[in-house]
Amino acid sequence: MIKHAGVCRQQRLLHVVFLQLIVSCQGHLRGGECSYITAYETTPSGWRSVQTVQTRDQRSLEEQEAVMGFLPVFSFETWILLITLIYIFIMYGQWTFGVFEKLGVPGPKPIMYMGTTTKQNPVYYIGDCENAQKYGRIWGVYEFRKPMLVVADPDMLRTILVKECFTYFTNRRNFRMNGDLYDSMSLAEDDQWRRIRNILTPAFTSGRIKEMYRIMKHHSHKLTDSLQSKAQNVEVLTVKDIFGAYSMDVMASCAFGVDMDSNTNPSNPLITHASKLFKFPIFLFFLQGFFPFLLPLYELLGVSIFPKSSTDFFKKLVEKIRAERNGSTGQKSEDVLQYMIDSQATSERTKEKHKEGLTDHEIISQATMFMFAGYETSASTLTFLAYNLARNPEVMKHLQKEIDSTFPNKGLVQYEALMQMEYLDSVVNESLRVYPPVARTERVTKETVKINGITIPKDMAVLIPIYALHRDPELWPEPEEFNPDRFSKKNKQNINPYAYLPFGTGPRNCLGMRFALVMVKLALVEVLQNYSFSVCEETEIPLQMNPEGLTAPIQPIKLKLVMRCTEPESVDN
Ligand SMILES: *[C@@H]1O[C@H](CO)[C@@H](O)[C@H](O)[C@H]1NC(C)=O
Ligand SMILES: *[C@@H]1O[C@H](CO)[C@@H](O)[C@H](O)[C@H]1NC(C)=O
Ligand SMILES: *[C@@H]1O[C@H](CO)[C@@H](O)[C@H](O)[C@H]1NC(C)=O
Repeated sequence: MIKHAGVCRQQRLLHVVFLQLIVSCQGHLRGGECSYITAYETTPSGWRSVQTVQTRDQRSLEEQEAVMGFLPVFSFETWILLITLIYIFIMYGQWTFGVFEKLGVPGPKPIMYMGTTTKQNPVYYIGDCENAQKYGRIWGVYEFRKPMLVVADPDMLRTILVKECFTYFTNRRNFRMNGDLYDSMSLAEDDQWRRIRNILTPAFTSGRIKEMYRIMKHHSHKLTDSLQSKAQNVEVLTVKDIFGAYSMDVMASCAFGVDMDSNTNPSNPLITHASKLFKFPIFLFFLQGFFPFLLPLYELLGVSIFPKSSTDFFKKLVEKIRAERNGSTGQKSEDVLQYMIDSQATSERTKEKHKEGLTDHEIISQATMFMFAGYETSASTLTFLAYNLARNPEVMKHLQKEIDSTFPNKGLVQYEALMQMEYLDSVVNESLRVYPPVARTERVTKETVKINGITIPKDMAVLIPIYALHRDPELWPEPEEFNPDRFSKKNKQNINPYAYLPFGTGPRNCLGMRFALVMVKLALVEVLQNYSFSVCEETEIPLQMNPEGLTAPIQPIKLKLVMRCTEPESVDN
């Protein structure tokens, strides 16, 4: 989960927001295109050809006269220049098109400048599903002018994500303009990425996760406490609010050792800045789409897709914490920041060149990225879990039975026992199949390479439509059904491991996967010990999905929370 958020912010097609804009642009472009071409095809000296264009457009006589009175002012040279510019403008808008025809890859037909972005469902991940239905498991799209090969074929994904990860597919697309986060693990490339990944990997061993489990428990108690009054008053819950607060608390304390109480203090600057990091400025998205060659210039000027005020905030926070811990001989912290500081100190002592530790700047970037990548993905996973359970009460009852037998008398939730719960694992996995928070990931090929008979040219982006892959009816019969039994012991062996990628896979998969699963499972189990979720009038069915950012509904999910002891069944137990 954690690594993907970096990608997904890049993929924030803020479609609906600017669909209007796109549609109106398109209208202009189309109208413009035909008259420009007519002018170009006929003599450039002017008068008559332009006149025909205008007549064809059936403009009013008045308008024509105005145009005619205006045009002759242009000299012959001006005309040449104008037409050349128009020609370049048109050619520039479409000269990347045609790649997929050459490669024999199907896909929607692109429109000048906009590529195929306007041709698919504004909810990009649903668009992926529709394209999969039309074109099969491999197709090509153009994000503005950029061709991207979409691969939803498990065999090919194994080659791309695992076998050829280090040789060809090490990196994701680099949007540049990464500001201060350029050296965070999700954005770093090649050797730098490998070095950072190697240093960070031991920060997420089971031993360390177990230590962080104690921190998580502290926050999960706060979560269940806060639910008590809400259940008693039978309030309608905005599910994301309660799980978002939990997720933020866990991430802040596990990343920085900052203990905050998001539930009672939602205006904490940490929350504001972490959410700000997720907002991808629309104009920058257009800019990189239309004029990618300008990016180095903008980068030079310090333009960043991550707001500088927010990255600065985290930078100051990390520096402050480091200064506080420096010299203090108090209790050793267990958070990721401390882990990175320690590993830096170790590498300084050993002075081995190949084991170079993180620089101060890299430490700040990793801590910030960890925070912002983990926060929203985990909150959204818990929210969808609650929704799926509320809509499938028999599954919830089954899960609660497993919880009660694993932790009798609403006993303490212990780490080992939690990790061994089979049905819980199936439920979580099935919810991540139906709603993977990160709906797409991607890789870029470093060299031209042929895989499964398909040539992927150098520098082409390969897009992996995780959401659509999880809904491929041949891989997942009745894909819309929420059915945890797909992951039962008996059925599990029929699952193609490359058909299920909520955390990606291979050497560049989500480093925080186990961490995230533990924090999600803990919260879910503790809540379900005492409460049940149920749909209510305010619950939206089916969900209308948000075109922007992570997999999420437009309207926040609303559910009712019911105290379990008030349920009639528990009387017989
Ligand atoms: C920690 O303290 C030492 C000496 O007091 C100082 O040299 C060092 O720069 C400090 N490090 C940080 C990260 O503040
Ligand atoms: C659920 O998914 C996780 C991570 O993808 C995997 O390790 C685990 O084996 C899966 N569990 C089942 C029951 O399939
Ligand atoms: C569940 O309720 C019991 C009894 O009211 C209480 O002792 C326990 O702490 C609660 N557990 C959680 C996780 O809220």
